[in-house]
Amino acid sequence: MTEFWETAFNNKQEMWGMQPAKSAELATNFFLENAINKLLIPGIGYGRNAKPFVDHGIVVTGIEISKTAIELAKKNYGSDLKIFHGSVTEMPFNQEKYDGIFCHGLIHLLDSNERKKILQDCYSQLTEKGCMVFTAITKSAPQYGQGELISKNRYEIHKGAKIFYYDKESVKTEFEKYGLLEILEVEENQPMYLIKCKKK
Ligand SMILES: C[S@@+](CC[C@H](N)C(=O)[O-])C[C@H]1O[C@@H](n2cnc3c(N)ncnc32)[C@H](O)[C@@H]1O
Repeated sequence: MTEFWETAFNNKQEMWGMQPAKSAELATNFFLENAINKLLIPGIGYGRNAKPFVDHGIVVTGIEISKTAIELAKKNYGSDLKIFHGSVTEMPFNQEKYDGIFCHGLIHLLDSNERKKILQDCYSQLTEKGCMVFTAITKSAPQYGQGELISKNRYEIHKGAKIFYYDKESVKTEFEKYGLLEILEVEENQPMYLIKCKKK
């Protein structure tokens, strides 16, 4: 996994541009409605999605497996943006609590145990009434079913990147313990679910 992302960021640098994903804009509204001011972004990449949050005065901390992506983020934001270098599978990286978590395009890259763990770890780092937004690729993606079948609904098209494709049932099954509020469909460069949760 590390090698796949290191190579990708080395070769393609800011590969999705500096515009935040639609999902980050949607999440910003949700976080502002809930008065979030301290946000954790697991899989922050080179930081393009931090911008709408930072612009609203939200303090952002990231976690990222690729050193190159972290260097790009530092170039774009300066050293104000704190990013832990490592895998989300090693969470928690600190003992702090966050009132918001935004995780875009990462959970579907993990295996079943890792998906359970990241959800549990994120929920544990949330304050009471804290909010989480995850996005995950759906089974409507045109490449669904292509590549080597790894396990049910999980395929490897590119070496090193195994993808689990969600349907509404699997979103409900995996997220219902974590204060699932709403599942939206968002068209990014792939069809994604945007999953909103709130801690009770
Ligand atoms: C699809 S990209 C999305 C990046 C970012 N969220 C964005 O939209 O600009 C997935 C990101 O998660 C990072 N990543 C993948 N596996 C990871 C892991 N196990 N731990 C931490 N970061 C990981 C990748 O390096 C990459 O930056």
